[in-house]
Amino acid sequence: MNDQAQRLRDLVNRDPCTVARTVAVTSGKGGVGKTNIAINLALALINMNQKVALLDGDLGLANADLLLGVYPKYTLLDIVNGKRELSDIVIEGPLGLKVIAGGSGVYELANISQMGLDRLISAAIHLNGELDFLIVDTSAGLARKVIRVIMAVSEVLVVATSEPSSIADAYGLIKTILQREPEKEITILANMVRSPNEGLLVWQKINMMTSRFLQREVKYVGCVFFDPKVVSAVRAQQAFLLAYPGSSASRSVYSVAENLLTKAFLSANQVTANVRMPFGRNTFAN
Ligand SMILES: Nc1ncnc2c1ncn2[C@@H]1O[C@H](COP(=O)(O)OP(=O)(O)O)[C@@H](O)[C@H]1O
Ligand SMILES: [Mg+2]
Repeated sequence: MNDQAQRLRDLVNRDPCTVARTVAVTSGKGGVGKTNIAINLALALINMNQKVALLDGDLGLANADLLLGVYPKYTLLDIVNGKRELSDIVIEGPLGLKVIAGGSGVYELANISQMGLDRLISAAIHLNGELDFLIVDTSAGLARKVIRVIMAVSEVLVVATSEPSSIADAYGLIKTILQREPEKEITILANMVRSPNEGLLVWQKINMMTSRFLQREVKYVGCVFFDPKVVSAVRAQQAFLLAYPGSSASRSVYSVAENLLTKAFLSANQVTANVRMPFGRNTFAN
């Protein structure tokens, strides 16, 4: 594990442009909205003048390409097999978003070899040199491969909903990450909430557990509202940010993007029990 981490660090250090940020969008439990968040966050950041790429790192069931309506000729599998260079599998999505497609349901990718994963991650980190953000959409859970993808990025955004199982699984994932990398930057994003307070509560519950049992606080990047427009956009294979720019989901994604961009993360000492947070572009401004 340490050799692995060291190799990745060496790769990053060799890259002349290490200013860019690599952000994994992950969760303990599946179906909480990771892929939708990853795509729409990436597009929101582009609209905020950032250079962004999306790596579909959901190694078992890649689907970012489906949601974006783009169909790659080559996928990560070709890179893993050493048949293609990264430039061959980067495709242009909406707003010029660079998408590195995983290859839907490819068995070999789900059973990727250690060397293959190294190639994948190092290739992605290399691409990162030209970018402000590399957003990595991962699969859910504690599988070793998911954890290793998470270890390779600089920031981890854990998506959770208000369902108790989602909150419990988010805690489990954070515990695993921190056991391996105690200093890892982890933030919580609450998805499918019906009010800002519901989002805050999701984060506070997770933060209470990490503070008590792991002696570590996690910060809050904001929430995305539950919005039927998300479901409509998914059906139409479109990003909701583009199909429904004025929807509450889109507006909340812009808030999250702004907080992510400016690193305006909320920490527990900024919030007292009954505080009501306003929700707008300056969500966390004093
Ligand atoms: N903010 C939201 N509002 C309403 N429905 C949502 C929202 N986010 C996700 N969903 C629903 O959850 C489903 C799963 O989302 P997806 O991004 O594929 O999750 P994951 O990648 O975590 O498995 C979507 O197809 C959509 O129906
Ligand atoms: Mg997904």
